Amino acid sequence: MNSVSTTPLPPATLKDAAVEVKGVNVVFHRRGSEPYQAVTNLSFTIPQGTVFCLLGPNGSGKTTTINVLNGLLRPTGGDVRVSGLDPTRDRRELLRRIALVPQETALYNELTGAENLEFHAKYYGVAPREVRDRIAHVLELVGLTDRATHRTGTYSGGMQRRLALARALLTDPEVLFLDEPTLGVDVQSRQAIWERIEQLADEGKTVLLTTNYMEEADALGREVHIIDHGATVAHGTQAELKAMVQGSRVVLEFAAPERADRARAVLDAVSPTTVPSEGSLSIAVPRGVETVAFLRQVLDEINAVGGVTGFRFSEPSLQDVFLHFTGRALRD
Ligand SMILES: Nc1ncnc2c1ncn2[C@@H]1O[C@H](COP(=O)(O)OP(=O)(O)OP(=O)(O)O)[C@@H](O)[C@H]1O
Ligand SMILES: [Mg+2]
Repeated sequence: MNSVSTTPLPPATLKDAAVEVKGVNVVFHRRGSEPYQAVTNLSFTIPQGTVFCLLGPNGSGKTTTINVLNGLLRPTGGDVRVSGLDPTRDRRELLRRIALVPQETALYNELTGAENLEFHAKYYGVAPREVRDRIAHVLELVGLTDRATHRTGTYSGGMQRRLALARALLTDPEVLFLDEPTLGVDVQSRQAIWERIEQLADEGKTVLLTTNYMEEADALGREVHIIDHGATVAHGTQAELKAMVQGSRVVLEFAAPERADRARAVLDAVSPTTVPSEGSLSIAVPRGVETVAFLRQVLDEINAVGGVTGFRFSEPSLQDVFLHFTGRALRD
């Protein structure tokens, strides 16, 4: 069980920040059990026109944070500003400026894609004379024009996620919140969604997305905020984060798994090894050591073992960053 803490912080200040989160805490009170702290002293700032990635494993507090930023949940403590507004106090005004693609897509499966969008456009007050053009535009953006007259119940998971993104774009929001936008979608839809997200940032929109896919954070987030158990683990640009962890690794491939096992026994004395897949071995290049000299030393050491069929260098990934700070992998 997490301990409960609330830290008072000074009011938000940065002018060009689209989103400011300062010392936010969220405590859930569940009947019959101890209070549960889902978010602990979370702080970050998102400049306008950037893609910001909140990366964390299941249950780490991503959706809770999104709910706070959308004014759906009042934080137990701390200060939040979105487009300069307090989300719980100024929610009506906020809804004119932001949009959310929730983790659960929540479409009306009996309606067509276009009808789903029309319903949403009316609900959110898109001017009646603009509705048709907006719908055509957002359908085009997500590549669903030719499926617009089909019921969404017949869409694939990826298409449903794309329609949910189109729906969020109807109101031309300044800030877009995407809660795991590509969870369970096919590669093609994922690529389409990533391209749209990048395009939105190029147009000056601010995008906060949550994910537990390393590749997604790597592909999109200019800044990545890693959380675990509701608290910050690390924050920075991808390059900064990777520079925080052990440097590159040498990956060796062996003709047979037994050879890799024997090599591991020898090499663990040189530098810690891991087994990325059967028959291969990954060895950390120690800090301050020249990579080629290290590789030569490694090959000398395992000369007697033999059977090396290939090698490559690998740079640290965000996965390594998470492992470094938490001692475990981001995903099982
Ligand atoms: N309304 C609530 N009442 C009580 N506990 C809650 C509530 N909402 C969330 N939690 C708990 O808070 C923690 C964080 O949940 P949250 O949904 O924010 O995680 P997440 O990072 O979005 O996870 P996932 O990747 O599975 O979507 C979890 O332990 C969850 O059970
Ligand atoms: Mg979630």
